[in-house]
Amino acid sequence: MAKIIINLKNFVLKTKFYGIDLIEKFFINILSFVCFRNLSWNDLLGVNRNRNGVYRKFQIKYRKFDPIWLREHRNFFKQDSRGFGEDAFHSYWFSLIENYKPSRLLEIGVYRGQTISLWALIGAKLNYEMEIVGISPLDNSGDEVSSYLDIDYERDILENFERFGLNKPTLIKGFSKVHSDVIRNGEWDLIYIDGSHDYLDVKIDLKIAYFGLKVGGILVLDDSSLYTSFKPMISNTFRGHPGPSRAFLEIEENKWKFILGVGHNNILQKI
Ligand SMILES: C[S@@+](CC[C@H](N)C(=O)[O-])C[C@H]1O[C@@H](n2cnc3c(N)ncnc32)[C@H](O)[C@@H]1O
Repeated sequence: MAKIIINLKNFVLKTKFYGIDLIEKFFINILSFVCFRNLSWNDLLGVNRNRNGVYRKFQIKYRKFDPIWLREHRNFFKQDSRGFGEDAFHSYWFSLIENYKPSRLLEIGVYRGQTISLWALIGAKLNYEMEIVGISPLDNSGDEVSSYLDIDYERDILENFERFGLNKPTLIKGFSKVHSDVIRNGEWDLIYIDGSHDYLDVKIDLKIAYFGLKVGGILVLDDSSLYTSFKPMISNTFRGHPGPSRAFLEIEENKWKFILGVGHNNILQKI
């Protein structure tokens, strides 16, 4: 009897989840249908800093205005647990890179290479040179809130790059705190922090990233919108983890300018 009740409960929860997902897809499709103007990066900065509005604009841009190769890349990583994140993130990365043209890019926490291969693909399509470095344990090391597959990460990442015909990235194996010199001395134009989600690790990554970025350089902090106004109207869209969200709350305003929040990603600029 208990088993039947548990199965019934799981069925209702699953149906509710898929139901909400379907309603959201329908809603965004309608919005995309009636939206005829692709907003520029500067237009998006002006959407009143309304986080829900900004997120919706990128969902629409992804569906209606972004190039097909961007969606093909995302679709590939959506399959078989190859990547995390959301469609709207592919769209904002495209706008961000198109707008700032970062040359030296660092990702902390690579997993299977979705984001670094996206950067490389955007660089190739925009026809400019990028140097891309990823620091990651390249094994299944997790943290308080995450656990990962046990696979050969290095081989997998390189195969994923090859699949899209991209130049190999530089992969540095290990935890970010072991490679703090690489972060600190990199003169980076862009750093994306998406490694450990434990509060103290994120604080250290942020501190070192500040030194490693050029003035005017861009920092993206993943999983950090739990304590912000981001609350998408319908969906269960992920708002972040406690560690990075707390670190984002504590950002020093004399060091960082807030540029934009897209879902659980927050984009900052070094002052
Ligand atoms: C959420 S996944 C990253 C997803 C990736 N950014 C993407 O866009 O596909 C987090 C990754 O960080 C790695 N990681 C965990 N602790 C780390 C640390 N202290 N330094 C660097 N990477 C870490 C994990 O092994 C995992 O590969």
